[in-house]
Amino acid sequence: MSNEAIAIRPMAADDYEGVAAILRVVLRESVKGEDVQEEDAKLPKENAFKYDNQGRLCGYGRLRLVAANPDGDVVGYGLAWRAPWTAPGELNHTLAVLPQARGQGCGGALYAQLEGWASEHKAHRLNYVVREDDPAALSFAGRQGFEIDRHMHESVLQLAGDSGSAGALEPETAAQAPEWTIVPYAKLPEDSREASVYGVYRDTQLDIPGFSGDYLPLSEWRIHVLGMAGSAPEHLFVALVGDIPVGVAHVLIEPESSELYCEFTGVLRTYRGRGIATALKRHCIRHARACGVRTLRTHNDSHNAPMLAINRDRLGFKAMPGEYRMCKLLPRD
Ligand SMILES: CC(C)(COP(=O)(O)OP(=O)(O)OC[C@H]1O[C@@H](n2cnc3c(N)ncnc32)[C@H](O)[C@@H]1OP(=O)(O)O)[C@@H](O)C(=O)NCCC(=O)NCCS
Repeated sequence: MSNEAIAIRPMAADDYEGVAAILRVVLRESVKGEDVQEEDAKLPKENAFKYDNQGRLCGYGRLRLVAANPDGDVVGYGLAWRAPWTAPGELNHTLAVLPQARGQGCGGALYAQLEGWASEHKAHRLNYVVREDDPAALSFAGRQGFEIDRHMHESVLQLAGDSGSAGALEPETAAQAPEWTIVPYAKLPEDSREASVYGVYRDTQLDIPGFSGDYLPLSEWRIHVLGMAGSAPEHLFVALVGDIPVGVAHVLIEPESSELYCEFTGVLRTYRGRGIATALKRHCIRHARACGVRTLRTHNDSHNAPMLAINRDRLGFKAMPGEYRMCKLLPRD
């Protein structure tokens, strides 16, 4: 297959299966075509870019491209997108080419169109995530002018066997009962839980190292956090002091999966350093066991010292290869 034989075209409604297959093979995401389609249905159909008073790109917009071989098979996928809460001027990229179609200009052709579109819309920073154990993708990103911004490693805790994570489960002997209780989101009063738990998410997410932009509004949080694949009201745990939510831990469990993904843990600043996040994570581990899950996964920013202290030092999560967050600055007029 030569470069000329590859057609780059906008993603169409019958490409979901092909794109999901690429995401599974290249990015090791456990997605089906229907998952990609479902996520898609949550997003606006039309781009709505705006510019702020400094001329920076704002608002919502995306471009989705596929690369097809002469038989019409989808062998590559390119996505550029921003949400209204993405930092001004920035676009996020995903680029993936099936191993059998590599080395023939497919990625370069997709990337050229993504960057052309970004320049046309005056984006000034492109973000790209590359798996740490994919040297070809790292070198590709380097050749396109991307530089490493942050490192996230994957952390894994095996629960196999009754004693597999015994240390992680046992809280240190406390002199007195903790000042907090932990309840599933589903058990909170229905009229106030959304706003109060959203508030904990909003105030703590901004403290994640490297977080930029605004936190998404409540209406979007409902769709993109509560509505995430694998999320359920009984998998979102809330730490209460009295009846005030002060911390959250959210885990995702796909039906019939033997793995659980810890999506987020956050504790309000005033309540940090008291062991609340550790207690929330232990609660998640017990929940995982009760659900028959054998493996817990999460991602940790190498600069997030408190989260590393909890996951690695206290609970025994093991560091695995993760991903680099890379970025490229585009010239501004
Ligand atoms: C990470 C976070 C959830 C921790 O909450 P917390 O309730 O303070 O956590 P705990 O009290 O259970 O434990 C904190 C541990 O971090 C350690 N720690 C805190 N700051 C640290 C630092 N700068 N360097 C090293 N260790 C640090 C504490 O000593 C403690 O460990 P210890 O009990 O063994 O001494 C909280 O800081 C937070 O909400 N951050 C913003 C959101 C975030 O980054 N979430 C993680 C991404 S999913």
